[in-house]
Amino acid sequence: MIIVGLKAESQTVTFNGDVAPIIFNNCTKCHRSGEIAPFALTNYAEVAGEAASIYDAINNRRMPPWAPDPSYNHLAFERTLSAQDIQKINSWISSGLPEGNSIPLPPLPDFDSTNNSVQPNFSYRIPEYTIQSAQDIYRCFVVPTGWVNDKKIKAIQVIPGNKACVHHVQVFWDTTQICNQLDGADSLPGYTRFIGTGSDFSKLIHIWVPGSELFFLPSNFVFNVPAGAKLIFQIHYAAGFAGEKDSTRVNIFTNQSGGTTRGVTIRSMINYNNIENGQPFVIPANQVISFNASDTLNFTYTFLGIFPHMHLLGKSMKSYAITPSNDTVRFSDIPEWKFYWQNIYQFTKAIKIPAGTSLHCEASYDNTVLNSLNPHNPPETEVYGEESSEEMLLNFFLVTAYHNGDENIIIDSSFYFNNATQIFSSNTAVAYPNPTEGNFMVDFSTDKSEWINISISDLAGRVIRNRTTEIFSHPGKNEISFSLDGLSAGVYFLSLSGSNIHCVLKIDLVN
Ligand code: HEC
Repeated sequence: MIIVGLKAESQTVTFNGDVAPIIFNNCTKCHRSGEIAPFALTNYAEVAGEAASIYDAINNRRMPPWAPDPSYNHLAFERTLSAQDIQKINSWISSGLPEGNSIPLPPLPDFDSTNNSVQPNFSYRIPEYTIQSAQDIYRCFVVPTGWVNDKKIKAIQVIPGNKACVHHVQVFWDTTQICNQLDGADSLPGYTRFIGTGSDFSKLIHIWVPGSELFFLPSNFVFNVPAGAKLIFQIHYAAGFAGEKDSTRVNIFTNQSGGTTRGVTIRSMINYNNIENGQPFVIPANQVISFNASDTLNFTYTFLGIFPHMHLLGKSMKSYAITPSNDTVRFSDIPEWKFYWQNIYQFTKAIKIPAGTSLHCEASYDNTVLNSLNPHNPPETEVYGEESSEEMLLNFFLVTAYHNGDENIIIDSSFYFNNATQIFSSNTAVAYPNPTEGNFMVDFSTDKSEWINISISDLAGRVIRNRTTEIFSHPGKNEISFSLDGLSAGVYFLSLSGSNIHCVLKIDLVN
């Protein structure tokens, strides 16, 4: 009996030893002072005090906020807890929340570092804006760029000014004067608009939600933005912050180094016009209703991501394709639509979608009083439109024309190389010195001139986004220098990904 007791005790899950690393890595970014979440989770007392609600939120997959179901399809950079992590927190709670004082508490990560290894080519901070409404408000700010040449945008970074109230930021470009006119008609900085910018010509290039990091297009892909375009930032300020001030910054990284690039666009490919059986897109009051929409492609595309979109009545949305050879390609399934957490999700790998494929979307809407976001009480019949009291059914895709070999492009390497020490396809690579104190070289050989995507991930497979970068390779031996300065000591994985180089190196960072 004593032996059993001792064994049980040595296996006890503690806060310091087991739970703190999970919470600090997955929750604290938002759950700390000045951030969007309503309470802090930065120490034992705070986490133990919320144990019951944490148990409920993680077991029902409400937290961390990540709407797509990972069991349907894994998406790039997904923010979810593993089954083991949930199990650890559950056993910590059921064994009475032991702190584990004999084990040192891990330090909080440095959340505020925006220490980019690459400098932005364009950076703009909106003029200070004082939130005018106690309700949710969507404010568009027109950003003069002064761009006299066409730009190739590779990456976009949003740094919210007031993190407690900025709930999402959409970035568009536009060449018309429509947004300037709307801006001019409002005496305060920017103008208010629920969805989009008010201009049908605006092109969406990014959505930021709390927890998002640097948004980086894979491989040699860019958003081509014409000379003279302005940017429009649409900021959603959450309810309850009237009188608060914000001045959000957006950094744009363009492709400077020449080389061939390929343009991508975010294109609406299934919408409310393509509902099967001619069913009209009408959502009657007091009903829960579903629609199946589909459309057939007559061109072969490479799909890099999806942006499923509905408004406040949205209940669920599932998107997939059926190819001409009858294979089902799963895109995303959002079983409980979260209007406030919608996003452009990149796939873990590029997907070839051949001509003749049918795209499918199953969407359901709850227009009853049970839907707490219902804009009308009592409910009213709703139709298509851009206002908050109107509805949408749209699937946008991040797409480009297919080129041979695109299906080998890896977007989130953590899904493919997680536990590797070194994987080679057609070439070898070596890092030295390794172990390193921060700076090291990587040598590799290839037979191609092309963009090679380089990313660093930690032991848990999380890509450290502000270290993601690209280099242009040349045939033969290539040598690149890299720095892990500013990261804490430990094991990291450096992945190189191009059309014929897929390799991961294990790097030991020592102090
Ligand atoms: C990306 C930001 C973010 C992350 C990461 C995050 N939260 Fe939250 N959390 C929020 C916000 C915002 C709310 C307020 C309610 C809402 O908007 O859904 C919230 C609410 C909660 C609530 C109360 C409401 C509920 O749904 O039960 C709990 C409990 C909670 N979070 C626990 C966690 C835990 C545990 C983690 C990590 C496993 C976590 N959160 C990660 C942003 C975040």
